[in-house]
Amino acid sequence: MSQPTNDKNWDQFWQQDKINPLDNQQENWSSLSWQHGLRFWEQIFDQHQPQGSLLECGAGSGVLSLHMKSTRGYDCTLLDNSEAGLNLGRQNFNQNAQEAIFKLADVENMPFDDNQFDIIYSGGLLHHFEDLGQVLTEMYRVLKPGGLMAATVIPDKFSCQTLGGFQRKTAKSLAAISHGDFTQVGKIVREKNPFFVNSFSLKQYIEAMETAKFRQNQGYSLGPFPALALPGKLKQGYTNFMIGRKDFWTKFNFKNTVVSRLWGIGYNLYGFKK
Ligand SMILES: C[S@@+](CC[C@H](N)C(=O)[O-])C[C@H]1O[C@@H](n2cnc3c(N)ncnc32)[C@H](O)[C@@H]1O
Repeated sequence: MSQPTNDKNWDQFWQQDKINPLDNQQENWSSLSWQHGLRFWEQIFDQHQPQGSLLECGAGSGVLSLHMKSTRGYDCTLLDNSEAGLNLGRQNFNQNAQEAIFKLADVENMPFDDNQFDIIYSGGLLHHFEDLGQVLTEMYRVLKPGGLMAATVIPDKFSCQTLGGFQRKTAKSLAAISHGDFTQVGKIVREKNPFFVNSFSLKQYIEAMETAKFRQNQGYSLGPFPALALPGKLKQGYTNFMIGRKDFWTKFNFKNTVVSRLWGIGYNLYGFKK
């Protein structure tokens, strides 16, 4: 039995100012990551032309749903087991004068009929499960035959973000030392991201999708650049560097090679119900 979220406080996570990184006036790693993520899914949706209803599982602020609602008019349902996350989703839709259905529920036991949705998307959800069996079976159940299941995952694996994490810890430790706060340094060094649970490879995700009966499963590497902790001008320089490599980033997100799988921060996956 997978117990994905009991040790994490998603409500607390969503209290922070995380409504929609695309509303930022200034580009940064987060807004660029979202833009590239959406660009990837735009291309996949263009290719397969799914129509109708979209369920986002573990939706939180529902950035992808809102984008797809605004650009493609899908009937969106946002499901999350965090009230605070769903509230941000509501706020995000309201601010953009869009409507959706919001459900507070567990993705392993969803309050929906069989064969209800044309598309299921989950971003940043599946890597929270040690066992993908129940969550994928449940997604398969509520998806219509021929429907598209799409997911973005960032498992706990070596990637460019491992190096980015090292840089972030070094920068934070140096800042603590400069404030004479030496006790913080040990804490910073031991800090682990509580939001990553599994460390599955792309192959393992695809195998789990096959076991859940999804077909024509595909997976690609995600994100060639890590989030770094940089001060003012360096941060801007890094953002400009990433902006200058937009084409490279787009191409990277359609790669599935040994190097891209190792280096990328995660994977985009999709498959279909028979
Ligand atoms: C990292 S956030 C991702 C949010 C959003 N999809 C995004 O990409 O920004 C993961 C979300 O999954 C939700 N979640 C985690 N476990 C869940 C479960 N068992 N059932 C429903 N939602 C869950 C959390 O509350 C959280 O809002």
